[in-house]
Amino acid sequence: MANISIGVIGAGLIGRKHIKKAIEHPDFELAGIADLDRDAVSAQYPGIAVFGDYRSLLDQARPQAVIIASPNQSHASIGIECARLGIDMLIEKPVTDTLESAADLLLEVRANKVRTLVGHHRRHHDQVKTLRRLLGDGLIGNLVGVSAIWAAYKPDDYFRIAPWRTQSGGGPILINLIHEIDFLRYTAGEIRGVSAISSSRQRQFPVEDTAGALLEFDAGCIGTVFASDSAVSPWTTEQGVGEAAEFPFSGESSYRFVGSRGSLEFPSLVHWAQADGGQNWNRPIQSQRLFASSIDPYRAQLDHFRDVVLGKAESLLTVEDGARTLIATLAVAEAAASGRRIDLDDRYEALAAGKYPPASQDTNPRKAS
Ligand SMILES: NC(=O)c1ccc[n+]([C@@H]2O[C@H](COP(=O)([O-])OP(=O)(O)OC[C@H]3O[C@@H](n4cnc5c(N)ncnc54)[C@H](O)[C@@H]3O)[C@@H](O)[C@H]2O)c1
Repeated sequence: MANISIGVIGAGLIGRKHIKKAIEHPDFELAGIADLDRDAVSAQYPGIAVFGDYRSLLDQARPQAVIIASPNQSHASIGIECARLGIDMLIEKPVTDTLESAADLLLEVRANKVRTLVGHHRRHHDQVKTLRRLLGDGLIGNLVGVSAIWAAYKPDDYFRIAPWRTQSGGGPILINLIHEIDFLRYTAGEIRGVSAISSSRQRQFPVEDTAGALLEFDAGCIGTVFASDSAVSPWTTEQGVGEAAEFPFSGESSYRFVGSRGSLEFPSLVHWAQADGGQNWNRPIQSQRLFASSIDPYRAQLDHFRDVVLGKAESLLTVEDGARTLIATLAVAEAAASGRRIDLDDRYEALAAGKYPPASQDTNPRKAS
């Protein structure tokens, strides 16, 4: 197979991970890196072309595809320029920082027919694929609801080195819950309505440290999700699947999917049911641990991006899909701030029509960070 020439834009925390995966991947050839801090990045990657401006990377190295791993605020403008040049893109999450810019990017992506993948890497875990298959096969009957928790204690340094994390948009809703929202959309179905409350009682920062949301899914399934960056717990997906060394493995499940014929914990994939598909609370219930392998989701994401670029696979998460995740996540923040239930259908429709915000929306959505 001919190697796909790829450029990486932004060589920070996640960009360096992508660079390592791209160098190791037999089907990609790293054409170059762009980062504002050209000298420091050059010193780290001797022998690789490093540009201080991403336009120079696009003009001179001419990659067939790029990974956009720069700060959120730059995703839309860089993505639009890549689309106009016909370059396929893996774009980090959140897809953009505002829904208006997501709609602009979507128009360019469509007009230029480029292929896109958004970096909610969690979709690529084997446990997630297995969960979707089990739910789709009806293992637990009709999906009635899902209960989720994401709770961890971020150290003081996390806020000291990046004070924007204490301000509006820097809290667990837009940093952490966005991954859970994407996961829930992927496994439980589209989110149609959102209600929420949030609190800043633990850290007393302007931004929330804790939030709870009530989610209404397609076909009437109900979800509750709790997120906090001020609580010590083993219940985050990161700890449950052990996807990164910085979040030590707990193996604990942070999700419970409940259905008319049984329940499933995630990521442990413990299945609870009564004998012979029984549905009676007076009868005993038994558990069985099902199996899915643990894989590197970043490598699996790159494998999938290769297949998307080569036209061998439909993207698991296009720019439009990533923008729908952003719509639902921003709605959690908006519902908590306003105390209102937010209906998402007209927002999805406006995005698809390239006319964001919808006429019915009187307030500006908050920025994602
Ligand atoms: N998928 C995930 O789990 C995950 C994890 C972390 C971050 N992210 C996302 O990845 C993106 C980057 O986050 P990070 O934590 O790596 O940030 P970071 O601050 O560590 O790195 C960003 C890098 O981009 C460079 N940069 C800034 N503007 C640029 C531009 N216009 N052109 C080229 N380079 C530019 C900076 O110099 C810096 O090196 C964000 O969108 C973030 O939300 C995703």
